[in-house]
Amino acid sequence: MAEARKKITLPYLFKKVADCEPITWLTCYDYPTAYLQEQAGIEMILVGDSLGMTMLGYESTLPVTMEDMIRHAQAVRRGAPTAFVIGDMPYMTYQPSVETAIRNAGRFMAEAGCDAIKLEGGAAMADRIKGIVDSGIPAIGHLGLTPQSVSALGGFRVQGKNAALAKKIVDDAKALEQAGAFMILLEMVPDRLCEVITNRAENCIIMSLGSGPHAHGQLLIYHDMFGLYPRFKPKMAKVFGNAGEVILNGLTAYHDEVINKKFPQQENWFGMPDEEFDDLLKMLK
Ligand code: KIV
Repeated sequence: MAEARKKITLPYLFKKVADCEPITWLTCYDYPTAYLQEQAGIEMILVGDSLGMTMLGYESTLPVTMEDMIRHAQAVRRGAPTAFVIGDMPYMTYQPSVETAIRNAGRFMAEAGCDAIKLEGGAAMADRIKGIVDSGIPAIGHLGLTPQSVSALGGFRVQGKNAALAKKIVDDAKALEQAGAFMILLEMVPDRLCEVITNRAENCIIMSLGSGPHAHGQLLIYHDMFGLYPRFKPKMAKVFGNAGEVILNGLTAYHDEVINKKFPQQENWFGMPDEEFDDLLKMLK
């Protein structure tokens, strides 16, 4: 039997960086998927507020609440006991103040057993990161395309394409690192910008979502990888298998077999001994 994996820890992640080995990271929102990701050896799991779109069907991540996040993070933790699980702080659970940020970050740790939290934003959020880290909670920053600001950013589009905007992202990354973020996710920034930020990082792990190969590791949205999000598929998402198609074919077959009386067959139901059934009929007379 394969040896059970040891718990993924911060020293493990930094050792991977030191050894130039890429870190694997996926989103996940439920117990069975977390179980599969753990079996596959995925090291980090993000319980993203993208669950508002992928699981709850909202148009954006903005309506997601702490209660939604905690419930899903608890399920993921149960399915992936050794993965490094990150709780993604939903809209307006950290922006109002440092204290709000610390309290809600603490809920992910205490109520869902998370290993770290992630929040969106640059230098303006550095004091939130510092407060959380000073409270003993590992924190991850998120720069580039930050979905909670999608309206201000003008849509789901690549960020930092011109030099001035790219410089702002470089400065934001340094501000987050100096505030104590142990990791920064760069979402949809040009590969060369990601490379610059990765090379300048001193004590901070840089992860890429659609930002190229030069980061210390990669993140993908699970639903995009398997054809499970019906509204759109971002360019950065490689489809590793079309589970959506497999499930749809299965559902259609079930529907057809039921209406054509082909399902269920004898192997799909439970019998009862003749004598017990005869007794039952007698009792019912
Ligand atoms: O909520 C999420 O899944 C995220 C990713 C888009 C990085 O924050």
